[in-house]
Amino acid sequence: MTAEYKVHGDVAVITMNNPPVNGLGYATRVGITQGLEQAGSDPAVKAVVITGAGKAFSGGADIKEFGTSKAGAEPNLLSVISAIENSTKPVVAAVHSVAMGGGLELALGCHYRIAAPGANIALPEVKLGLIPGAGGTQRLPRVLGVEVALNMIVSGEPVKSEMLAQLPGQKLFDRMAASPESLLEEALAYARSVADARPLPLVRNLPSKHPMGDAYFQFARNMVKGMSKNLPAPEKCVDAVESSTRKKFDDGMVYEREVFTNLMLTPESRALRHLFMAERAASKIPDVPEDTPQREIKTVGVIGAGTMGGGITMNFLNAGIPVTILEMKQEALDRGIATIRKNYESQVKKGKLKQDKYEQRMALLKTTLDYADLKDADLVIEAVFEEMGVKQKVFETLDGLMKPGAILASNTSTLDVNKIASFTKRPQDVVGLHFFSPANVMKLLEVVRGARTGKDVMATVMSVAKKIKKTAVVSGVCDGFIGNRMIEQYSRQAGFLLDEGATPQQVDRAIEKFGFAMGPFRMGDLAGNDIGWAIRKRRSQERPNMMYSRTADKLCELGRFGQKTGAGWYDYQEGKRDAIPAKLVEDMIVAHRKELGIEPRKISDEEIVQRLVFSLVNEAAHILEEGIAARASDIDMVYITGYGFPFHRGGPMLYADQVGLFNVVQAMKRFQRNPRDDAKFWEPAPLLARLAAEGKTFN
Ligand code: NAI
Repeated sequence: MTAEYKVHGDVAVITMNNPPVNGLGYATRVGITQGLEQAGSDPAVKAVVITGAGKAFSGGADIKEFGTSKAGAEPNLLSVISAIENSTKPVVAAVHSVAMGGGLELALGCHYRIAAPGANIALPEVKLGLIPGAGGTQRLPRVLGVEVALNMIVSGEPVKSEMLAQLPGQKLFDRMAASPESLLEEALAYARSVADARPLPLVRNLPSKHPMGDAYFQFARNMVKGMSKNLPAPEKCVDAVESSTRKKFDDGMVYEREVFTNLMLTPESRALRHLFMAERAASKIPDVPEDTPQREIKTVGVIGAGTMGGGITMNFLNAGIPVTILEMKQEALDRGIATIRKNYESQVKKGKLKQDKYEQRMALLKTTLDYADLKDADLVIEAVFEEMGVKQKVFETLDGLMKPGAILASNTSTLDVNKIASFTKRPQDVVGLHFFSPANVMKLLEVVRGARTGKDVMATVMSVAKKIKKTAVVSGVCDGFIGNRMIEQYSRQAGFLLDEGATPQQVDRAIEKFGFAMGPFRMGDLAGNDIGWAIRKRRSQERPNMMYSRTADKLCELGRFGQKTGAGWYDYQEGKRDAIPAKLVEDMIVAHRKELGIEPRKISDEEIVQRLVFSLVNEAAHILEEGIAARASDIDMVYITGYGFPFHRGGPMLYADQVGLFNVVQAMKRFQRNPRDDAKFWEPAPLLARLAAEGKTFN
């Protein structure tokens, strides 16, 4: 039983106890209803208090039950709330720490509510592409008013209990306790004080109304539409809250349920629920148990104060961890520090960072030209030039100098981490920490596990990632790791599309309409086309038979590296980032087609999207089969958090699953007929072919 029952004099206390957040799983629901029955039939009990053990009142649905038959098994949450409403003895919710989703809905079903200050109150269902499904949209407006309730439901964001308690006319909390520690005592006293009150108050009997209903809901709908394209749930939140003002309570409940059930079946909600689970799954490494001992990381060294080194440093400063940053020359250090300052100052200007916080962070930063100043760091991250020779020197130096047990990390984006580890006599301490640019902003961190990286090192860096608020995904060692290895195939397809008849702007527009933050050509201009050029040079030495469109090389030969040179696939006006179609590039592409003897054809947006996305999917299937990624959902996390893949589609793997792998393979077979593609490109990866044939999915 995950709810405890205990009688304190004449008051029964039901304590939900299902760590970590007292999720309302089946056993907890049974426990609550049994507690209510017991209290009902005990003549000595005059009132009931419901509360939560540990760190929450209740966080809502039990995520362990998602998608299982237990999720809706009776007593479901609606039945539990009915049982509370129908109790002949008053039921008081004693709310503390966290009351979210179903947890808040449960409290709203109680006759009275007392809250401790500091509790996070929310209905976050919208973040999973849903609306609250156990009366939240009908009851919250009745206690907080339509506007506050709708704001909370549409945003899903938590609000502190003491703030809500201050709202004029609010009926969410009947009482505020002095502190979380005194909550139970105060709840018992309060329950005694209302033991004889009759009739028992019910939120359902309160009115839900807005003085200018029509105008307000019209306005709310317009706001929400603008903010939530591609996602149906936010607008449905407005509909449901509006129904609380128009329908009788029970009819509103029926409406809420109907909307909730329909949203459950939408691909968008599936995607958001998938990502919610994927994020939790990614933090677990199958063969590294959660209780693996970790190394303590109190200080960090960063080598190289360039584009990446600066951003990486900021992550640690933000988390209150001191950093010493090393460069070869004072000018490079000065430049790096100036960039860090500039970034922080712009946050201060925008009001996102307080001046004193900024100063505290800068006070954690030391600079040096001397390796000796790094020797006591617990973790050192190298972000120097992407050349094996340079990395070798750095790691040999670190090996000779760092204290035993220090973790030596490389931010390399393509080089072999095993080889880097071999430059040291402590390969167990070496790991890849592949940040994404801008490193202080992007959520993704690929943690590259070398063949000999220690399990304790893996456990440590995963928890460091959490501290610096990154989404860490583990990748095995291969060229490009998970993300860049897949993007190589995507870029190759983008190039072939140009050769066959598309323009950069058509390709970008099509994939941006699909939902990508940025198409491949705008992306190239932002990141710098010279980076890809250098990588292609290396790869075409390693893989001389690999086919790719030469257009990108020709662009670089013209010096068009992108925004930084004022021109790339597009033209740019000084100081602006708007991509303007470039006549010169179009002519270059046309001439290139002529050279190849290709008659251009009109390519549909649908074909563009499929070729780009399925090229990702096929490479991902190889990555999964080789064990470079542990799960399909890890690959989805990489693409959502690092590559601007549309999150309402849940990542390339979930998208492929929803299209159907059979259909994906059929499309790939059609593409094999394209003149520019080597037929091999579209040969389905063995795993993809097998799953498609068996009617299975990646996830
Ligand atoms: P960058 O050229 O902006 O910065 C490199 C810095 O390292 C320079 O300031 C240079 O003076 C310094 N440096 C070079 N050799 C050094 C040495 N021996 N000791 C100390 N400092 C040294 O390069 P960026 O873009 O920051 O890249 C650094 C690393 O991060 C590379 O391995 C790159 O592949 C990787 N990376 C880059 C990403 C990007 O988008 N720029 C994304 C992810 C990884």
